[in-house]
Amino acid sequence: NKTIYILAIESSCDDTSAAVLSNDKTLSNVVATQKIHEEYGGVVPELASRAHQQNIVPVVHQALIKANIDKKQLSAIAFTRGPGLMGSLLVGTSFSKSLALGLQIPLIEVNHMQAHILAHFINDGTQDNQPEFPFLAMTISGGHTQIVLVKDYFDMQVLGQTLDDAVGEAFDKSAKILGLPYPGGPLLDKYAQLGNPKAFVFPKPKVADLNFSFSGLKTSILYFVQRETQNNPDFIQENLNDICASIQYTIVKILMDKVKKAVKLTGITQVAIGGGVSANSGIRSALKAAEKKEGWTTFIPKFEYCTDNAAMIGIVGYLKYKEGNFAQQDISAKARYTI
Ligand code: KG4
Ligand code: ZN
Repeated sequence: NKTIYILAIESSCDDTSAAVLSNDKTLSNVVATQKIHEEYGGVVPELASRAHQQNIVPVVHQALIKANIDKKQLSAIAFTRGPGLMGSLLVGTSFSKSLALGLQIPLIEVNHMQAHILAHFINDGTQDNQPEFPFLAMTISGGHTQIVLVKDYFDMQVLGQTLDDAVGEAFDKSAKILGLPYPGGPLLDKYAQLGNPKAFVFPKPKVADLNFSFSGLKTSILYFVQRETQNNPDFIQENLNDICASIQYTIVKILMDKVKKAVKLTGITQVAIGGGVSANSGIRSALKAAEKKEGWTTFIPKFEYCTDNAAMIGIVGYLKYKEGNFAQQDISAKARYTI
């Protein structure tokens, strides 16, 4: 059995990433994060695609060097087809198609959301406990908020998702209202750990089924801050930790209530999470607590595999390679692409 070497490319949002795998094992995973968006307070699609254009060749080069693999040894190229920003996806898609054509090797298309979930199967020698099918996965990031029933590698069903903002956006927009720089999620988390989560009460949305909504929360935080600063201009500075703790408490409660509902509906007690918001201390400790209180088994990937990365694209590429599931050269990127 000959070793399969896969080069994986991820460019769906604002991170340019390339990884090299030897069978299921990750040899390298290089990520170039785009700093340019910070000054705009959010990802600017046009700037993102230009930065991918600049980054992609050096990032791929680095990934090959770190893996100590020559491009002539590659067996296939896996790339993110969608969902994501069209201009960003086009860079990775066109690059991957050209390279596969030049090297005369197969092309493998990957759904970014499937990849976030299958990131639990990345093998870099350090991630040991993996979920078993079927399990529940909650993807929580700046672009996604979904609860997915994972029956098999490529048999997934979205049970619920956000009807408006993603949970990461809820963190970032709340942080912005408090005057914190973008992306404010990690900072809000930092202050939240120093405050009282019950200091202020924010309304939780009433959303049917397993769906989420975060836009109402953002508005209520805005009105709350406007009202309080009218009475006391220093309100935010004087109460920053408590405000952050209360916001985080509310968001984590919204997420946990829905996962609990999903567990109840499906009877499945293995719960996995992924996406940048998995770094949040509140959601992490709520999941840990549920292991004891509810008897769940929970799975949180290493942080570098929670945020956008090509290693997760690579593991999906490997699984598809084994099935002989290849893409044609006329394939195109898909901004909207369901699991
Ligand atoms: O997965 P990711 O890197 O990019 C995508 O959006 O796909 O996720 C980034 C999001 C941002 O909204 C960021 O504020 C949020 O994850 N985030 C956090 C924390 N760390 C990252 N939100 C809350 N608490 C954190 N510790
Ligand atoms: Zn993502």
